[in-house]
Amino acid sequence: MATAMDHGAVTGLEEVELGAGRVHVDDKAIINCRADVNQLVPLKYQWAWDKYLNGCANHWMPQEVSMAADIATWNDPEALTDDERQMLKRSFGFFASSESLVANNLVLGIYKHLTNPECRQYLLRQAFEEAVHGHCFQYIVESLDLDEGEIFNMYREMPSVHNKAAWALQYTQSLSDPDFKTGTPSTDQQFLRDLIAFYVIFEGIWFYAGFVQFLSLGRRNKMTGTAEQVQYIMRDESMHLNFGIDVINQIKLENPHLWTTEFQAEARQMILEAMELEVESARDTMPRGVLGMNAENLAEYMRFIANRRCNQIGLEQPFPGAENPFPWMSEMMDLKKEKNFFETRVIEYQTGGSLSWD
Ligand SMILES: [Fe+2]
Ligand SMILES: [Fe+2]
Repeated sequence: MATAMDHGAVTGLEEVELGAGRVHVDDKAIINCRADVNQLVPLKYQWAWDKYLNGCANHWMPQEVSMAADIATWNDPEALTDDERQMLKRSFGFFASSESLVANNLVLGIYKHLTNPECRQYLLRQAFEEAVHGHCFQYIVESLDLDEGEIFNMYREMPSVHNKAAWALQYTQSLSDPDFKTGTPSTDQQFLRDLIAFYVIFEGIWFYAGFVQFLSLGRRNKMTGTAEQVQYIMRDESMHLNFGIDVINQIKLENPHLWTTEFQAEARQMILEAMELEVESARDTMPRGVLGMNAENLAEYMRFIANRRCNQIGLEQPFPGAENPFPWMSEMMDLKKEKNFFETRVIEYQTGGSLSWD
């Protein structure tokens, strides 16, 4: 049982104390909180609660989207080029394992140490959404009658998919020691590194490469069921990403000593490494270029997105001057609109309308 002498946070594994004083809002903290964590209210971080509510309002399930048109397209030898098929399969392979890696990181890495109850409420919602996303790729693979072994083992068989998985997994593993506790500058920074690896890089940068690839087909009226599902995933992921950014910024606000020059240099280095892995992946998914996309302009898009992400957490832009080579992505979901994306979409979904491609 934790004692007052321990550093770190109360995690929820401690004994419940009869007669202990009530928890006040000011007792709560984003990390290293000593207050009992078994109380959702009083809410301290309204942004976390709001994201939980918005996540619930955007509930969707893969089977609600018809795959009939995609099945016809996939089975028509003239409808897709070999390059388009290869790009689709390799992107499916990347997402199929990535959804599990992200979910595992939430449950096995982040949850224990992000002890604020309203943040945990969001993490529980997010974890379910990752299950829905994993389901989505299972549903697509089953609908199109793809070789599920090929798609779901790609992270063990294709180096570029493997290398991204292995790079991210080391951050989950770094929190996996049962004795790991936040509460020292070095362990708090270790926790921050995991948040950056998963929320900023995995969900916030790498996923956007896949979104562009799927949506580039969808906007040409190809694989529209897949593209619609990906739009729902993208809507969820923009929320996950913004939650992660809010958490990182709140940790910075409450613990400014963690955001040292050295730490910022390290975060920048992580982004540079992730970029190299993405370029490798772009070459594998599109060795010859597809639909006006190629490894080079996808890399430029990743640099453009990485700059946005760095701005969001207060890091210097790693790629000044990078431009968006796919302006149509901005029309589909302008990054600047991420915060109010739901205001324009929720009602349509809740009333049963489907996303349109206009
Ligand atoms: Fe996801
Ligand atoms: Fe996610």
